[in-house]
Amino acid sequence: MMTFLLASNNPNKLRECREILEKDGIRIISFKEAGIESNPEENGTSFKENAFIKARAAMEKSGLPALADDSGIVVRALGGAPGIYSARYGGLDDEGKQRRLLLREMEGKTDRAAAFVASIACVFPDGKELWTEAECRGELTEEERGTGGFGYDPIFLPAGFTRTTAEMSPEEKNAISHRGKALRMMEERLRAYLEGEEK
Ligand code: IMP
Repeated sequence: MMTFLLASNNPNKLRECREILEKDGIRIISFKEAGIESNPEENGTSFKENAFIKARAAMEKSGLPALADDSGIVVRALGGAPGIYSARYGGLDDEGKQRRLLLREMEGKTDRAAAFVASIACVFPDGKELWTEAECRGELTEEERGTGGFGYDPIFLPAGFTRTTAEMSPEEKNAISHRGKALRMMEERLRAYLEGEEK
């Protein structure tokens, strides 16, 4: 059994990471379960940098292998905003207010292309680092639909689907989401690394 600390204070990310990764010898624990707190300044300039800032800080505090997800929504008509600032878009810390702000910013825009991006960093106490990143392309709706998921899910329609990610079951969302894809890639990398270690 390999235990990883998930470097996140977001309960929704913890839930999704568990749904996707927890099987066949991989276990995820939260900050609360590890009895530690970690809130490093996310001052990187990319999803990747911020994922590594969080994973390294968590590994150093706990001595455990740590996984971190840095993610967000990138909107083409807004030059890539909110991007790495998705969790504090407009200086707001309320997800409903952030969604309403984004819909207001998009009023009258015909190009509604958007993508969710997830960057996953894994840092081991021996210094080994692994990284994966994936996106889920789609577009922004004109109004909120659905109550599942979190964050921008009620206003994000993945390409090829007629339902928002907030109208999907957790399994459906995980099958196509940025986080689902990046975590499944990470799982492969982790298993390959751990098998190599054991030999
Ligand atoms: P982070 O915790 O700094 O990585 O910020 C991630 C933010 O991006 C979240 O707070 C959400 O606003 C947004 N986000 C990331 N993944 C998702 C998702 O799967 N659905 C909806 N919003 C997401």
